[in-house]
Amino acid sequence: MKTLTPQSEQYLDIINEYKKNGKAIAHFNISNLDQARAIADVAQELNQPVIIGASEGEREYMGIDMVRTIVNELNQEYDVAIFLNADHTYTLEKVIEVVEAGYDSVIVDGAKLPYEENVALVKSCVDYVRSYEAKTGKRVLVEAELGYIGQSSSLNTALPEGVSEANLTTPVQAKDFILRTGVDMFAPAVGNVHGMLIDAENPRLHIDRLKEITATVDIPLVLHGASGNTDQDLLDAIDNGIAIIHINTEIRKAFRDGEMNYLEAHPNEVAPYKFGKEGQEEMKKVVRAKMLLYMK
Ligand code: G3H
Ligand code: ZN
Repeated sequence: MKTLTPQSEQYLDIINEYKKNGKAIAHFNISNLDQARAIADVAQELNQPVIIGASEGEREYMGIDMVRTIVNELNQEYDVAIFLNADHTYTLEKVIEVVEAGYDSVIVDGAKLPYEENVALVKSCVDYVRSYEAKTGKRVLVEAELGYIGQSSSLNTALPEGVSEANLTTPVQAKDFILRTGVDMFAPAVGNVHGMLIDAENPRLHIDRLKEITATVDIPLVLHGASGNTDQDLLDAIDNGIAIIHINTEIRKAFRDGEMNYLEAHPNEVAPYKFGKEGQEEMKKVVRAKMLLYMK
């Protein structure tokens, strides 16, 4: 049993090591303890580090400190490193909240803002985080997103408004953005979209654009909105510079389906640990398949 929560120094080293070895680290979001434990179970089974993410909405539901406490406990109980990321965080105030609560990384999401406003927001957050680090000695990774890919991990009938090929990240912008903000990790829009289409395939990734970005920047790249992407696209993305892959909609759906199927078969069941278990089992199948894919 470990006695310490893994530190963020180790976090960046692991990300870089995965990138160097042509692999990616899995990032999965949680809304409850059942999901957190399902992710940790599979990470332990495969002996892989994993990132647990909680977006503003997910943190509001669970409690910012409660999420940190759960992940601390998982780190005590399991033998693999489990990092905690404050996913999609839209303001400096919310960034301060999660940094002070001890999260290991934060994504500043200004993707919907005009370019210069996105740069200014992210720069202000990086400045704050660097001063926090100088004061406390704790490293906190900052990630930012450029190019709009939607905001919800939901099942959709159409692509989110504002998502278009015209909004794909360009290598020139990526380089300028990283230089001016000083972020540790960068999330480009290369055909990836938050959420999944119900009646159609999600768009394919633009691997050529990703390749151009990778050739231009040297910090780890993060693929958001990976639910609904083909295995081949995800493998190509890893081969071309993606070091972390975010999945939420697919695990939300699996968890929901597991509980729903159980309750349909057992309409009088009221014990959450019984239908919750079925949600976990369905979700674990997705988590396992993704992690095995990223390990290659
Ligand atoms: O940050 C969360 C992810 O980007 C989730 O995207 O719901 O499309 O898997 P997804
Ligand atoms: Zn995302």
